[in-house]
Amino acid sequence: MTATQSAILYVFSGTKNTLTVAEMISAKFQLHEIACTIVQIGKAHPCNTDCSQYDYIGFLYPIHAFNTPKPMVDFARQLPVAVDKQRAFIVKVSGEPFSPNAASSKILMGILNEKGYRLFFERHLLMPYNIWFRYPDGIAKHMYRFNQTYSELIVHLIIKGEVEKPRLLLLSSHIIAFLFRIQWPGARLNGRLHSIDRTRCIRCTRCVAECPMGNISQVGDSIRFGWSCAMCMRCVCYCPTDAIQIGILRFWKVNGPYDYKRLADDPLLPFPYITDETCGYFKLFRPYYRAAELELATHGICLTQNRPYVTMNRYTGGIDT
Ligand SMILES: Cc1cc2nc3c(=O)[nH]c(=O)nc-3n(C[C@H](O)[C@H](O)[C@H](O)COP(=O)(O)O)c2cc1C
Ligand code: SF4
Ligand code: SF4
Repeated sequence: MTATQSAILYVFSGTKNTLTVAEMISAKFQLHEIACTIVQIGKAHPCNTDCSQYDYIGFLYPIHAFNTPKPMVDFARQLPVAVDKQRAFIVKVSGEPFSPNAASSKILMGILNEKGYRLFFERHLLMPYNIWFRYPDGIAKHMYRFNQTYSELIVHLIIKGEVEKPRLLLLSSHIIAFLFRIQWPGARLNGRLHSIDRTRCIRCTRCVAECPMGNISQVGDSIRFGWSCAMCMRCVCYCPTDAIQIGILRFWKVNGPYDYKRLADDPLLPFPYITDETCGYFKLFRPYYRAAELELATHGICLTQNRPYVTMNRYTGGIDT
């Protein structure tokens, strides 16, 4: 009889795209009878860093300015030394697939390696932008539905446990990631410049409750911002009256979450939406999806058969339908 296995997913998520991906991966682990716990990190979520009893340890984060967000890096620094070279993996989520994002895990990987975790797997998943501009519904649906299927492959490969060869990255990716690390102190400074439109604010305190960094407080009748902002955009996204201005980034604001459940079932939005015929900006996403679909196909998963919940048998490597 096989011993019961377990996984823990440490997640930093701003507007909950990464959390949505974590929930997909957790569901797939459970299909394989592997208990999976999701732990959100951030100053507002102090958590037990003891992960010694878990077989698989996942780190999931949204790419911020071509880097791992600072709260995830700080969290990794607090982790204890690995027991018996525990297996760790990274899933990073971002708005576009371009090469400057490729070196985003560098510091996180360094910390995990130093602590003795056996980092054997990394994948980059796409979810819509939560800053700069809102993605069209069709693209948002495509990303969500695609990740539902792709997360099955991710879990299959994690369970298989083969150590993947580290990819050679362009020097330019490293340089860009290094230069944009200015975003870490920049987030704290810009956080102080957040302001509330008092004519719109209904004092619901949702922003106070939601901020993963505990950076927002209510003092009397006012909402105040502290020095711990991670520029995650959650307060802006979930404010019901669009009352928050985000300092110098005010023209890049995306207010309101993407309604993935509704979009996923919308028959008017074809799936797959990004195809070889896609034009405009999203044409640039075609190589990413072509390569990922090829990887799915190599493992016997067909994206277009409308079977997002196809399950791989962890023992045979075949597909249970
Ligand atoms: C401050 C900030 C910086 C970002 N930088 C990048 C980036 O460098 N590359 C990218 O592809 N997406 C970038 N994004 C987009 C997010 O990675 C993307 O929207 C992700 O889905 C957000 O996930 P979350 O909801 O879990 O926070 C950035 C978002 C924010 C808020
Ligand atoms: S979430 Fe928006 S409306 Fe509610 S207290 Fe915060 S700023 Fe005001
Ligand atoms: S203040 Fe807003 S943007 Fe900054 S960490 Fe909190 S929720 Fe995120």
